[in-house]
Amino acid sequence: MSAHAVAQPMTASKSGPLKGTASVPGDKSISHRALIFGAMAVGETKITGLLEGQDVLDTAKAMRAFGATVLQHGPGAWSVHGVGVGGFQEPSDVIDCGNSGTGVRLIMGTMATTPMTATFTGDASLRKRPMGRVTDPLSLFGTQAYGRKGGRLPMTVVGAAHPVPVRYALPVASAQVKSAVLLAGLNAPGQTVVIEREPTRDHSERMLLGFGAQLTVEKTNEGNVITLTGQPELRPQTVAVPRDPSSAAFPVCAALLVEGSDIFVPGVSQNLTRNGLYLTLVEMGAQIEFQNPRTEGGEPVADLRVRFSDNMKGIEVPPERAPSMIDEYPILSVVAACSAGKTIMRGVKELRVKESDRIDAMARGLEACGVTIEEDEDTLIVHGMGAGGVPGGATCATHIDHRIAMSFLVLGMAAKNPVSVDDASPIVTSFPIFEGLMTGLGATLRQGGQQD
Ligand code: S3P
Repeated sequence: MSAHAVAQPMTASKSGPLKGTASVPGDKSISHRALIFGAMAVGETKITGLLEGQDVLDTAKAMRAFGATVLQHGPGAWSVHGVGVGGFQEPSDVIDCGNSGTGVRLIMGTMATTPMTATFTGDASLRKRPMGRVTDPLSLFGTQAYGRKGGRLPMTVVGAAHPVPVRYALPVASAQVKSAVLLAGLNAPGQTVVIEREPTRDHSERMLLGFGAQLTVEKTNEGNVITLTGQPELRPQTVAVPRDPSSAAFPVCAALLVEGSDIFVPGVSQNLTRNGLYLTLVEMGAQIEFQNPRTEGGEPVADLRVRFSDNMKGIEVPPERAPSMIDEYPILSVVAACSAGKTIMRGVKELRVKESDRIDAMARGLEACGVTIEEDEDTLIVHGMGAGGVPGGATCATHIDHRIAMSFLVLGMAAKNPVSVDDASPIVTSFPIFEGLMTGLGATLRQGGQQD
């Protein structure tokens, strides 16, 4: 069932101090990859801490459709009995990836160099998103793809029977595209090379090495040159999925904005390809202590102590930081609205092709809440109103986008008047325990809209 068959309005109101521990669920990017790499290994991969959000459940279902045995043993505890590189079977039905761009793009890459045909679809949000960015490089392997106008889903992909290795320089900073090409390269002979000018999240590289692939990353003037040797036998792994820094962003930012808050957020990734929001918040004057740095599930993490920060200031976010915080601009724009002065976010046009057009969704919702915005194709500027200064009192459209929904609900916890979202149901895609976790900290959240 779709996450949003029936719209579920939700309302957040000015909240008392947030206190306690915010233990957020597993990382979405690593959860998808644990299932997919597990399916390509020979034997049983064991996973703990898997995010049981709808996006990841859809990927689990897809891996079963391609022939892997995927079982749940307990909360977050899963196993994948993989079929080996090139061992996928042709699915007998359409693969529905729901809301997940990561799911569909990585899976297209995974089957692209095995001779079989698969048809992919998704929900109304995913069917609007461009797939050409993945099928263009896959065509270099010999893969064919037939989609709707503009490279949209539903799309049928015909895997290459005699794939050739490719050398591909990414035209956009995208970990999904990078990963799709690497996954396709696994079943091609010889060496596949991906060049990324700006570093994007590196979970695929780290995990492929863990699963026994031969992969090197060289830092050159052109950027990172990633070289993968094709047709390895991947070895099954035990994967402990670390917590998701993109989910942690919501309680962290809520605590910064809600008066009197003081919370503890364990195990937040300090991976340089994921921590851009946290650097930005500190530059804005956030009171965040990074405690007990260590490695968890192969990722550098720290525990965060986060306190209400009433004199945060707007900044210009360095555009080269965008890939390391690409999913965090919606919640950053809420923090910006509650800070003093302007926050300038440039080089963010990728936000226009996420689960929604996130520049437009945030601009319209913030304006409805009384905040002044400037935008162009590649820029969002928020004129901050200071701590507790945002009027609120509006209903914001979420456009089937979990991060838009959670961002406006956080705004409602700090604004003068309640803020509603028209549909909170997409939150299950990435953070199914959001409502319980936030109310447990002391947030005032309720089902229903402004009038209910
Ligand atoms: C992801 C990569 C990013 C990010 C998405 C997850 C991944 O997308 O927005 O939520 O797991 O590889 P792009 O690669 O399109 O930037």
